[in-house]
Amino acid sequence: MSVTVVGSLNEDVVVTVDRLPGRGETVIGSAVAVLPGGKGANQAAAAGRLGTGVHMVGRVGADPAAGRQLAALADARVNVGRVQRTEGTPTGTATIPVEADGGENLIVVVPGANAELTPADVDVESVHRAGVLLLQLETPLDTVRAAAAATRGTVVLNPAPSQPLPADLLARVDVLVPNEHELRQLADAPAGELSPAELAELARGLGARSTVVTLGARGALVVPADGPAHVQGPPPVRPVDTTGAGDCFCGALSSALDRGETLADAVRYAVTAAALSTTGAGARGALPDDDEVQALLARTPAATPV
Ligand code: RIB
Ligand code: NA
Repeated sequence: MSVTVVGSLNEDVVVTVDRLPGRGETVIGSAVAVLPGGKGANQAAAAGRLGTGVHMVGRVGADPAAGRQLAALADARVNVGRVQRTEGTPTGTATIPVEADGGENLIVVVPGANAELTPADVDVESVHRAGVLLLQLETPLDTVRAAAAATRGTVVLNPAPSQPLPADLLARVDVLVPNEHELRQLADAPAGELSPAELAELARGLGARSTVVTLGARGALVVPADGPAHVQGPPPVRPVDTTGAGDCFCGALSSALDRGETLADAVRYAVTAAALSTTGAGARGALPDDDEVQALLARTPAATPV
């Protein structure tokens, strides 16, 4: 089978800072780098690096940034035949300050050509016949909905950046992959600390079949369609830049599901891949190959019930 990603491609402008600025504050950065990004393209690149056959469906501008994005995807062995160049609108960009110590970040996205991806653009063979269709929310919601409706494959949706989701889309999602912040927004949850059991309860109310909540350095909470929830912790790594860790997680999860792994095994694989991805700068600076993930799996702890 294969994974098809319908989603965004962005040029990331990554600025290294000692400390993220507050509202109205000016801080001095120490370095700037222009890197390939976009949640969709990052997820496609992660799956491609792991050795999975991947098709990317999206839009870039007709500008120099577009060429850089396509080259970076091809370099990760992603098929870019369905990425269209769009006249009169720039390739998407993201501005990302990252803290030098620990890698915390903020992201501001200007969608550009990503906003022009239409339902007609996703009515294509690679979407119809995908083993796993991997979606995010950096392209128009109607397009995401059309893609989910058009495929016969397993639908994985990373609801980022978060926005309210129509019931017909959620009903078509096999695995929803929010982070904790996105889960709270989707579930309209009150502020305040929530236990894994409480998060699982929120996830069950959303309407997708299964939900996997990414928990950053704590790994991921797995809430299967049937059966009890569990937390899968990560292997020990020293993070340099957490940008794109969630994207690596989604790409790796889709790769493993496409190979026929169970949800629990696929999450264990994805937590391990995502941990490795934080050890290099930028959203794609340390995307692992399958051998690297397999080698670290032995150090990934056993899952704990919630
Ligand atoms: O998830 C990280 C990504 O979000 C960045 O690459 C940036 O482009 C934004 O889309
Ligand atoms: Na990284």
